Amino acid sequence: MKAFTFKNYGASDVLHPEILEKPIPNPNQIVVKIHATSVTAGDWRVRSATPFPIRFHSGILKPKNTLLGHEFAGVVDMVGVEVAEFQIGDRVFGSMGMKSGTYAEYVAVDVESPIAKIPEGLSFEEAAVVPIGFLSAYHFLQKVNLHPGMKVLIHGVSGSVGSAMLQLAKAKDAYIVGVCSSKNSSWVKNWGADEVISYDKEDFTILPEKFDLIVNAVGKTSFREIRHLLKPEGKYLSNDAALTDYLDLLMQTIGGNKEQIILGIADQKKSDLRVIQSLLAEGKVRPYLDRVYSFDELPAAHAYVEKGRKAGNVAIRVA
Ligand SMILES: NC(=O)c1ccc[n+]([C@@H]2O[C@H](COP(=O)([O-])OP(=O)(O)OC[C@H]3O[C@@H](n4cnc5c(N)ncnc54)[C@H](OP(=O)(O)O)[C@@H]3O)[C@@H](O)[C@H]2O)c1
Repeated sequence: MKAFTFKNYGASDVLHPEILEKPIPNPNQIVVKIHATSVTAGDWRVRSATPFPIRFHSGILKPKNTLLGHEFAGVVDMVGVEVAEFQIGDRVFGSMGMKSGTYAEYVAVDVESPIAKIPEGLSFEEAAVVPIGFLSAYHFLQKVNLHPGMKVLIHGVSGSVGSAMLQLAKAKDAYIVGVCSSKNSSWVKNWGADEVISYDKEDFTILPEKFDLIVNAVGKTSFREIRHLLKPEGKYLSNDAALTDYLDLLMQTIGGNKEQIILGIADQKKSDLRVIQSLLAEGKVRPYLDRVYSFDELPAAHAYVEKGRKAGNVAIRVA
């Protein structure tokens, strides 16, 4: 099967086509013929080992796993002998979790990992970009008590995680103020933001209003920079925390207030993907797709995503 692998860390041109053996499923795995995958912020960071500590997990000198790619959408091609949930021909989407391997024509997936059938009406390219953004957003938003009328500020609302947070919080009738650049402001408004602040025209840090929740979704702000915008019981949440955020969390924990700052790594749960699958089927959420690249254009897609300005998500059409 055709795949893209990387033997060394570096710029997007370390990704090269390679012919690999098609996987065979273990008893509790399925093999998916991949129709679409994605390039996430996490993918380019692993490819380039940015920041350096990524090497402690991915390999100090060279990547231990040369096959990248975390999200997939495709058709079940083979089924392990113990698998009852999926059948050959099912349209499925999912995430490899902490593993990778979707920059290939086929992937073997454990059925206990986040995988589900694609809801009607969703293309492979759309389905492929759902899991990481939505599972991350869902994980973090479950840590706050979202309720109607709650005032939420999302900084980086136009990213993959930010646009998923926007829709999940809107589904709970929260009042959302989104911060992004002016090039993204109109779709962000159309996708549910009650107000949009273009950071290239307006300084959101001097807003007079106070928020119940502030989300730092793309790591371009910090608790220190915006804590004055929180209500007394308000919470600060970041999936892309600054170093000072961890220091402030430590200080607050020592001071007995460990509830205000929420940081960490999102779990990717199969049960959560089921919730997202239902919301997609009901039309309450949908992934924002910025660009679709062909499989041969994978290095170009990585170079684009690495610029940090993608709107929502970038998909790769594999078949
Ligand atoms: N903790 C976890 O478990 C977890 C899970 C998933 C992702 N992450 C991390 O979360 C981060 C976000 O990922 P992502 O895929 O959503 O987005 P991304 O690709 O990292 O960011 C793209 C978005 O950032 C916006 N942006 C750039 N500069 C900005 C600024 N100064 N102010 C506001 N927005 C700005 C861009 O919008 P404009 O062009 O409008 O500026 C663009 O839409 C990544 O670092 C990723 O690794 C962490």
